[in-house]
Amino acid sequence: MKIIMLGAPGAGKGTQAKMIADKCGIPHISTGDIFRANIKNGTELGAKAKEYMDKGLLVPDELTCGLVVDRIQAEDCKDGYILDGFPRTIPQAEALEEALNKIGQRVDFAINIDVPDENIISRMSGRRACTSCGATYHVVFNPPKKEGICDDCGAELVLRDDDKPETVKNRLRVYHDQTQPLIDFYSARDVLRTVDGTQSMEKVFDDILKVLGA
Ligand code: AP5
Ligand code: MG
Repeated sequence: MKIIMLGAPGAGKGTQAKMIADKCGIPHISTGDIFRANIKNGTELGAKAKEYMDKGLLVPDELTCGLVVDRIQAEDCKDGYILDGFPRTIPQAEALEEALNKIGQRVDFAINIDVPDENIISRMSGRRACTSCGATYHVVFNPPKKEGICDDCGAELVLRDDDKPETVKNRLRVYHDQTQPLIDFYSARDVLRTVDGTQSMEKVFDDILKVLGA
């Protein structure tokens, strides 16, 4: 199954993608996590991506599309995958569609997690992210067992650099301008499914499983 997660920054794409990946046994591919790993490892791609991410802007399509098109051709993607944070622009969606067309495939579901802007900023200030495996927590809604430590891998949890309120506001602006048009793009292809992301994480997950028939 090939699934795309759509939704504003902080809507819960990463949280739900990880749960779906575990349940369905398919890889969770997050472009944000890939860029953050590159920043941590001091790569050239990481240095370029950081310039944009710190301002809440999108990393240019030229740096993003090829990376994902390569990744989905890896052996572990043969039974499907979940794309989290990609595509984020119409040209990215077109690049993905073109790559899939070439091999006679298509996206099965584009899951749109719907959360109003008012809820987003408070969610982001409480988020804590693992510096090693990318797992996501929330100090109130989803705390780790031990404060500041990842349950999954034991690494340190931090507030992401781009989760400061000013940067979050920019990310929301960019989302509405550049990413929201994808809702119409996937609706026209009859694969869009919208779930109410203001519910508890468990309820959102249930709704997604119903959509997937899993
Ligand atoms: P990315 O890492 O993808 O960030 P994002 O889309 O802004 O989304 P987030 O990861 O912030 O939120 P999320 O929806 O995953 O929410 P989460 O599950 O963590 O991208 C970062 C940057 O990289 C971009 O700004 C851009 O610069 C660049 N980039 C990445 N991909 C790109 C691309 N394709 N093209 C160009 N540039 C790209 O949840 C948020 C918080 O809420 C957590 O604390 C969580 O515990 C909590 N939470 C989740 N669900 C619930 C719930 N139901 N109730 C209460 N709390 C909840
Ligand atoms: Mg995320």
